[in-house]
Order: sequence, then structure tokens, then C-alpha cells
Amino acid sequence: MANDSSGFSKKPNSPMDSFARVALQILEPYRKRFDSSFLSVLPSLGEDSTVRQAIAYAMQSGGKRLRPAIVWMVAEALHSPIAVDLAAVAVEFFHISSLITDDLPCMDNDDFRRGVATTHKAFSEATAIMASFALTSAGFELMARTPIPQERQGAVLHAAFSTASRAIGLNGLIGGQQFDLRPQGFDEKSINTIMDLKTGALFEVCFVLGWLFGGGVVAKLDDLHRLATHFGRAFQIMDDLDDIEQDKEAGKKVNYALLFGVEEARNSVRSHVEGFCALADELSLGESPLVTLASAMRIVVG
Ligand code: IPE
Ligand code: IPE
Ligand code: MG
Ligand code: MG
Repeated sequence: MANDSSGFSKKPNSPMDSFARVALQILEPYRKRFDSSFLSVLPSLGEDSTVRQAIAYAMQSGGKRLRPAIVWMVAEALHSPIAVDLAAVAVEFFHISSLITDDLPCMDNDDFRRGVATTHKAFSEATAIMASFALTSAGFELMARTPIPQERQGAVLHAAFSTASRAIGLNGLIGGQQFDLRPQGFDEKSINTIMDLKTGALFEVCFVLGWLFGGGVVAKLDDLHRLATHFGRAFQIMDDLDDIEQDKEAGKKVNYALLFGVEEARNSVRSHVEGFCALADELSLGESPLVTLASAMRIVVG
């Protein structure tokens, strides 16, 4: 796999790579904030050990840091009075945990991600599996440490933990990975379900944590679910456009662009970005850089 010196993406000049470049300016301040937030929580993960080194390696091997940026952007749009840094690091922990597992030989069997060795290649499969588990539980730990005003604590913690625990399990990311490996159908509905579970669910956690910890009301969580579905589908289809050739060669059928064609895939990205922007407006997130970020997906797919 080609090495991309930016450490952002898998393939230079692909839609995802172009998205990363267009989004670079928007994401840059959040990436910096992420790096320092991560370093400040690293010691709390446990004594230095091989697994902790594998976690640091996986966490510091590039990436756009899109998910923590979403948490920060949503909270900023709500003029959050409290810092949501720990929740922002938590969502990246969930994300990197999922990528470590996704790359394992028994899953997608990838030796490289963003041009560098995957965690099981740099360490061992056993260490990678332990690092992935540890990151998931550390993400929940960080959520629990995020400050919340006393009067909202019960409602916010309940909603945040039920959203995140559901989104990472069989009704979310793991369920999506299961159907990605063993699809039950190749019609549009089945493929949308896989995308919603394996990709959209984690984006939902980002929007919901930014919203709840940022001071937003619990009553709007259904709208945030719809918002994340638009974002997640646009994002995953953009990634599928990147992976057409690779998936064709590997005989992997679960790829929206491969199943329904490049033009239909582009149309779908455009329509989900439109849906996202309209809903963001309704939720008073219309002025947020989130909208520019989502619109970048429409631009890069042409
Ligand atoms: C990769 O996500 C997994 C998908 C959902 C397609 P990202 O493109 O956000 O991963 P990073 O930026 O390399 O961490
Ligand atoms: C990434 O999915 C992992 C999750 C979405 C949980 P893919 O297998 O489709 O993405 P890449 O291409 O490895 O990043
Ligand atoms: Mg996969
Ligand atoms: Mg993969």
C-alpha cells in the first residue's frame, strides 16, 4: 500500500485523501488539541507496558482525528461552558480500538494503515487484541471523568452511556463488522444497515457526546441519530469509492460503489450531505464548521 506522508489516508489522490486535504484547515486546530489531550490522559491508562506502548503506537500513527473534532465542534456550537476534551479523546479511543481489530488477519488482514504497519504487525496479534479491548474500556472511563453540571448529571450520564455502549456492541459497530464479514444480503437496505452499524453508530456517539456534555437537551437525541446516519453513510460511501479496486480484487462485495456503481455512490454522498446540512440547520448547528466539513465530502466526490 502506498505511503502517504501526511499520515491521513490510505491512498493518495483518492476521494478520502482529497477530503482529508480539503478538511485539513478545519481539522488542524482540533488535531493539535487532540494530541495534547491524548498525552495528558496516557499516564492514566496504566503502568508502562507492551500493551500501553501498542496503544500509544496505534493512537499516534496518523489519522484525521475527525471524531474528536466532531465532539468539540458540536459542544462549541452549543457554547458549552465545560471542557469536553475527555469525551473527545474517548471517541477516538473507540475508533482506534475498532481499527486495530478491523486490521487483524482474521478480519480485513491489513498489514498497513495510513502507510505504517498495523498494530498486530508492529507488536503481535495478542498485544493488538489486548490494546483494542483496553482502549474500549478506557473510552468509557474517560466518558465517566468528563465534568457535567450536578443538576444534569443523572440524565446526561444515562443517555451518554446507553448511546455509547449500544453503538459499540452488537447493535452497532460490532454488529456492522459481523455483517460486513458475513453479509446477509446485497440489496440497498442491507448495505445501508451495515454502514449505519459499522460506521454511523460511532459517529452518533460523537454527535451525542458533544451535544450532551456540551449542554444540549436529551430530547433531541433522535435528531442527532438521523444527523449521524447522514454523515456516516456519506463518509462510508466516500471510503468505499476509495476501495473499489482493492475490494474487487479481494472479492469483498460489501462496498456501496461496487454494488450500485460509482455514479449512484456519488449521488448518494451528495444527497446525504444535503440531508445533513438541512438537519444541522434545524438543530442550530448550521453555523458550525461541521457543515463545511460535511460539504467537503460532496465536493471531493465530484
Ligand atoms: C476509517 O475512518 C474507517 C471508516 C469508517 C471508513 P477514518 O478515515 O476516519 O480513519 P482515520 O482518519 O484514518 O483515523
Ligand atoms: C473500518 O471499516 C472499520 C469500521 C468501520 C469499524 P473498513 O474495513 O470498511 O475500513 P478501512 O478501509 O479498513 O479503513
Ligand atoms: Mg472492515
Ligand atoms: Mg478494513
